[in-house]
Amino acid sequence: MKKQTIITFILAIIAFSLPSANATKKQDKEMDRFISSLMKRMTLEEKIGQLSQCSEGYATGPDNSRISRAPLVSEGKIGSMLNVSGATETRKFQEAAMQSRLGIPLIFGMDVIHGFRTGFPIPLGEAASFDLDAIEMSARCSAREAAAAGLHWTFAPMVDVSWDARWGRVMEGAGEDPFYGAKVAAARVRGLQGDNLADTATIMACIKHFGGYGAPMAGKDYNSVDMSMGQFANFYMPPYKAGADAGAATFMSAFNDFNNIPCTGNTFLLRDLLKNKWGFDGFVVSDWGSVEEMINHRYAADHADAALKAITAGLDMEMVSECYTDNLARLVKDGKVSMKLIDDAVRRILEQKYRLGLFDDPYRYCDENREKEIINSRQSHDEARHVAQRSIVLLKNQYDILPLSTDIRKVALVGPLAKSQRDMCGSWTCAYTNTAVTLYDALKSRGLEVDYNDGYDIDSNNISNLGQTLASARNADVVIVAMGERASDTGEMASKGDISISADQQRLVSELVKTGKPVIVLLMCGRPVIFNQVREEAPAILCTWWLGTEAGNAICDVLWGDYNPSGKLPVSFPAHNGQLPLNYQYKSTGRPTAKGGWCTTYRDIPTAPAYPFGYGLSYTTFSYSEPNVTPSAKPGEYAVVTVDVTNTGKRPGEEVVQLYVRDEVASVTRPIKELKGFEKIALAPGETRTVTFPITDAQLGFYDNDMKYRVEKGDFTFMVGTDSSSLKSVKFTL
Ligand code: NOJ
Repeated sequence: MKKQTIITFILAIIAFSLPSANATKKQDKEMDRFISSLMKRMTLEEKIGQLSQCSEGYATGPDNSRISRAPLVSEGKIGSMLNVSGATETRKFQEAAMQSRLGIPLIFGMDVIHGFRTGFPIPLGEAASFDLDAIEMSARCSAREAAAAGLHWTFAPMVDVSWDARWGRVMEGAGEDPFYGAKVAAARVRGLQGDNLADTATIMACIKHFGGYGAPMAGKDYNSVDMSMGQFANFYMPPYKAGADAGAATFMSAFNDFNNIPCTGNTFLLRDLLKNKWGFDGFVVSDWGSVEEMINHRYAADHADAALKAITAGLDMEMVSECYTDNLARLVKDGKVSMKLIDDAVRRILEQKYRLGLFDDPYRYCDENREKEIINSRQSHDEARHVAQRSIVLLKNQYDILPLSTDIRKVALVGPLAKSQRDMCGSWTCAYTNTAVTLYDALKSRGLEVDYNDGYDIDSNNISNLGQTLASARNADVVIVAMGERASDTGEMASKGDISISADQQRLVSELVKTGKPVIVLLMCGRPVIFNQVREEAPAILCTWWLGTEAGNAICDVLWGDYNPSGKLPVSFPAHNGQLPLNYQYKSTGRPTAKGGWCTTYRDIPTAPAYPFGYGLSYTTFSYSEPNVTPSAKPGEYAVVTVDVTNTGKRPGEEVVQLYVRDEVASVTRPIKELKGFEKIALAPGETRTVTFPITDAQLGFYDNDMKYRVEKGDFTFMVGTDSSSLKSVKFTL
């Protein structure tokens, strides 16, 4: 439906002449008027159509073998489509929507998780940058490219906190920490949405999966989630809330049940908390088929019951399954569902269409020329390389073996992952698999002599051609081994019971180390993995995750020191599967972890992680002074913590200075420490910087069991340092 251009023109002139808050109110009023008048003309069936989303092209969930529902678009029975992209393709479906009686445009959504055509590091890797500007830039680039391909909406960011690396989707989040996760969630929303959804370089974000999807029992994807409200509020909720506060246009309900109710039919989560308490004014979409799956949960008796429970709970749009389409009209006619519920859901969806500018011009995102110019542009690739460099974490660097000297000519490169474009992209990719620069390609383009050997079979993980691989190593200046897992080993439905790197891959590294040549291990993975033997024996280890299109170039930048690594682990790396779930912000318990018998520990495996949360080295070194705490007179600020950080090495470098807080005694049990501040600083050799952390409610408070945020008087310990286990502390009394 096209509004009169003249009205738009007049409104634009008025909007420019008003201060911005007034302008927004004016636009909101105009939007309300427009949508109210449109809704008056809509039949019940047309309204229900707006609540329905169908998939076309390919399936990102179990293909329920439904016949294409695309023909329903021109009948006004579909409000949104997923998995359709490209300016031409989206235009085709939008034209069909324009033929419907009221010509209400479609919203096109897709899982643009870490880049659209230009691939960025997997979200967990990107989170290792602890660089919110870089993370925002990555989201902005994804939005720019996706919007140029006709898309209006991504099902990202996934903000689920996870402590269990067995869960395959740990790759898609920001790791284990709620404070950091909240910052990353907000940065990603800002990057995707900008400050104007009608801008053709922005798209709607979708905070997912609400809620607690990252805590499935035993790390099994889709499994039940059961936790206390205090646990949810303090450790899992903050990133969802931050996403809502940042203005995310949409939320997605999770597959799992939460407090014994499937999230898709969970009134507490969707209506009471999200819409009523947080004042979220966007719309909630289900996950793929999750309305219908309430039947499998044995929470809904049939499709009609599932529709009734979902709409009552506050679920606005149904993805893929057809419980709404087939049953809502009857439920309304039978008086089981009120028109008010339907109208509220429809209005929320139409408002986002309005904000996207689709009523002004339904084809504003379908521009083939813009698509050609923007996708895979130089700018996108430069940004991807920038973010990829910052996502790499230096785990070990014995004898300062890294960075490599420019005198190195002959490289023995080992491991099929070093040559795999597909794997470099990680899972959840939007078809950019053949553009990635592999490590092999990047080494070659640096003019190096590269002798490549598989070393192991990528599928069986067994060692292959050991003799030849060792001969190549002996003949080289340096040996670079790419080890880890395949990209397809992480992501949705990729949970694992054992996250160890195969014994053969590890033995291969041992054999290579025995040659006496310098061996650099590149750990390519989408989750924390266990590799104790390599950890022990390899002199240098870089965690490179899956870095996207510019992977090979970014890895070379770090190997040769063109970029000094600055990443820190956003998730603890376990030393043993039995430690899972694992997190640094555990509770003291009545028998705190210590050496020996009557305490919270294991008899047969270590309690300490292989690498703690926040860990990561640099080619330079940093020293920390003792921290200071000074009471503050500023309103809302109790104190400031300061620490002097000095670059004590010979190279410029960046350090993520971390602040942790312990509430010594509280009315509920509290963790031994929690990240409550961080700052990434760049220091020249010999330079010292004083880093200041303001202490406010956000640093001292917690949610009680009734989900009330409280700050209690008493003693606190502030800890500052380079990672969650190397800290200097100072006491404070409130
Ligand atoms: C299922 C996933 O859980 C969700 O994250 C994704 O957005 C949808 N499928 C759509 O592809």
